[in-house]
Amino acid sequence: MGKIKMDLQAALDKDPAARNKFEIFFTYGGFKALYRHRFAHWFYNHKMKYLAKLIASGTRRKTGIDIHPAAKIAGGVFIDHGVGVVIGETVEIGTNVLIYQGVTLGGTGKDTGKRHPTIEDNVMISAGAKVLGPILVGHNSKIGAGSVVLKDVPPNSTVVGVPGRVVKYNDVRVDDIDQKLPDPILEEFARLNKRIESLEKALDVKSCKYSITQENSVDECDGNAIEREIGELEDAIESKINNLRKH
Ligand SMILES: CC(C)(COP(=O)(O)OP(=O)(O)OC[C@H]1O[C@@H](n2cnc3c(N)ncnc32)[C@H](O)[C@@H]1OP(=O)(O)O)[C@@H](O)C(=O)NCCC(=O)NCCS
Repeated sequence: MGKIKMDLQAALDKDPAARNKFEIFFTYGGFKALYRHRFAHWFYNHKMKYLAKLIASGTRRKTGIDIHPAAKIAGGVFIDHGVGVVIGETVEIGTNVLIYQGVTLGGTGKDTGKRHPTIEDNVMISAGAKVLGPILVGHNSKIGAGSVVLKDVPPNSTVVGVPGRVVKYNDVRVDDIDQKLPDPILEEFARLNKRIESLEKALDVKSCKYSITQENSVDECDGNAIEREIGELEDAIESKINNLRKH
């Protein structure tokens, strides 16, 4: 009963649209799903697994929220809107956690035993986020909408993106992460440029050194440099041949 009271209070605290506990109790799908889960979990732990599953399947039908009866959920959790939320069998959720619609706390399909996430206290998991595998989401962290989180999340951080990356830690922007997408064509050009450069060096040819693939590259491009070099080489060869003819 204590947990149910805590869930009611959490809904009142976290939803700016909530007006009173009476309204939450009778109209909030997220609250209803958790309320029913408390009973399902009790039956599951008292060797009445079929009854537990029956309650869970009824909850899914009524609310669109699918919680495995074995999932361990502390009091004071709020599932806002809720439709499409899936919570797997070995999930553990701490207190004061906020979960929005479309969240999956699931497995990757690669693990056995404990294969679902553990969510510590005061975490917010935004709409559509997928948190997968037996990972730990540290307390006071936020998971951004639409993120796919596959690795542990340190406490007090914000994770966004696919795959999820820490963008804020202790309220400070984390800037040293390389979020650039690889560009294989540009990389290939960079490799070719390096080869051309080494050939030019071997032939002692001074030509265009500008390249978008090289950082800090200065545009010192002289389009006629190679032609001039070739012209000079031809002149030198011609004068050498003329000298040989004279002798
Ligand atoms: C992640 C979130 C909770 C904000 O957390 P925060 O700690 O305040 O982070 P910030 O807003 O400072 O954002 C940090 C960076 O992440 C980016 N970011 C935030 N949310 C993002 C998301 N879902 N996907 C990708 N990037 C995101 C921001 O643009 C910012 O990048 P920048 O510094 O380069 O501009 C919020 O953006 C979010 O996703 N809220 C969704 C809530 C929800 O589900 N509502 C449904 C109601 S029905």
